[in-house]
Amino acid sequence: MSKWSKYHQEKGSTMANLVKYAAHLLIVTAIFFHPASFAKQAAVAMPDSYSSDTARAILEQGGNAVDAAIAAQFVLAVTLPEAGNIGGGGFMLIQKDGKGDFIDYRETAPAAAHRDMYLDDKGDVIDNMSVYGIHASGVPGSVAGMWLAHQKHGSLEWKTLLEPAVKLAEQGFIVHPKLAASIERYIARMAKKSVNINFADYFAEAKANKVFKQPELAATLKRIRDQGKAGFYEGETAKIIATFMKQHGGIITEQDLKAYEAKSRTPIKGNWRGYEVLTSPPPSSGGIAILQWLKMYDLAKPKEKLEHNSTTYVHILAEVGKRVFADRAEYLGDPDFYEVPKTALLADDYLSNRASTIRPDAISTTENIKPGLHESEQTTHFSILDKWGNAVANTTTINLSFGSGVVVSGAGFILNDEMDDFSAKPGVMNVFGAIGGKANEIQPHKRMLSSMTPTILLQDNKVKMVTGSPGGTTIISSVYESILNAVEFDMTAEQVVDSPRFHHQLWPKNVIRYHTGLEPKVVKALEKMGYTLDERHFGDMHVIINKDGKLDAASEASGRGKAMVF
Ligand code: DON
Repeated sequence: MSKWSKYHQEKGSTMANLVKYAAHLLIVTAIFFHPASFAKQAAVAMPDSYSSDTARAILEQGGNAVDAAIAAQFVLAVTLPEAGNIGGGGFMLIQKDGKGDFIDYRETAPAAAHRDMYLDDKGDVIDNMSVYGIHASGVPGSVAGMWLAHQKHGSLEWKTLLEPAVKLAEQGFIVHPKLAASIERYIARMAKKSVNINFADYFAEAKANKVFKQPELAATLKRIRDQGKAGFYEGETAKIIATFMKQHGGIITEQDLKAYEAKSRTPIKGNWRGYEVLTSPPPSSGGIAILQWLKMYDLAKPKEKLEHNSTTYVHILAEVGKRVFADRAEYLGDPDFYEVPKTALLADDYLSNRASTIRPDAISTTENIKPGLHESEQTTHFSILDKWGNAVANTTTINLSFGSGVVVSGAGFILNDEMDDFSAKPGVMNVFGAIGGKANEIQPHKRMLSSMTPTILLQDNKVKMVTGSPGGTTIISSVYESILNAVEFDMTAEQVVDSPRFHHQLWPKNVIRYHTGLEPKVVKALEKMGYTLDERHFGDMHVIINKDGKLDAASEASGRGKAMVF
């Protein structure tokens, strides 16, 4: 029975009721056609079902997109230990009440960190030191980031937003078989490498389809719930972290924790094909990179529209990638420590010059692609759009799956291995094959360069797309390709996240990483051109599209995400 016929049945048809009915109709019509209220739909695209259900519940309780994002971030610290965290950092891009904001809660180097801390006596990088174990972590930023986002944009009470995570940690959650399998694989791999971490003490008991409780984490989350930011950066939690560090030879201190500050920065905004691309500024390299990528693609592509994922399409985008990553290695770093030439890197003249050497049929020599200015795998992403049209794109990480593999005993959370995102030595690749130099060298309190690129597409200041992904340096490719998929190829959200993607980043030389599903004849043709093709999945996209007021949301099928429009 429709709402209206029910109304008739319940209310009868007296004159008074007819007047009421007409008034009701008028209000409903006014709401429906109000420009700010496109159909009052909301959507979430989240990396697991717990975060998805929590974000939806917060929105249905009247919370806004930022409230939902904060609650989801804390839930993910419980139910998605590969990447969800309170021991890591990230970026939250917000479009709210018609204005953009960027909450930078990236980790920082501890005060005792120094440029050569991962080098041996001969000046060589010590294997794995910035990747696993007690020395790999930066000072966590997530709790401060959520606190700042809440202070600036939240509408529900902080405590309300923490409660779902506390409950899932205390009473337990049912372990997804994919999570159980990755825990098992990780424990076996770390044992084989003889890495000294305590991960298994905490997570070996998490078995597929069984309830898994985390009492120490629940107690930490309760301190955060009750004391806010200070519940993590001061008092008991800070003491537990600092004592744990000292016991195991780590360098993060109580002072480091107290000194940590999340920052609100101005998002990068660039125009592309009639859209405003609202995206991540440094210390993310991603915002500048995706704008360079989208703009150089338009400059380098032939006049006729290229077929999606055809040989020429992949090749031209790989050529652009070479140039993007050469600039990234040279010019990108923490803007509080290094002046990033943002405007110069996005100038039209610069990009057309740089794109002019791209040939549609030949690979340029990697060694010849230099930074262009003449001077002068595990993260997680989610997208939320509330009924008022406010959006959050949030990417958060502890770097690799399960971070440094170290759990703070007594506080129950995993620490990041984000220090590996610094350049440990000029020209030496990190785990993602990224190189860097001065701009991204280690300095106390500095933020390590990131590829995380939460991005929002706007048209007439209305949110048209919310996108982002994990995947280290491949994040940048996932994000720009998702935008091309939606805009150039008019795909649905599901097609956007599930169509095969590819990635090229200057080094390793002429290697294109790609998803299964790229046509075999395209793979062969690219190999014939001189590329080496490496079939390996990357990313886990969670995308929302607003098409003429109708929302469409999707989470990539390879993950365990859940997207809903309601
Ligand atoms: O900030 C960065 O660029 C990396 N730490 C992100 C790591 C990541 O995406 C791993 N995910 N698969």
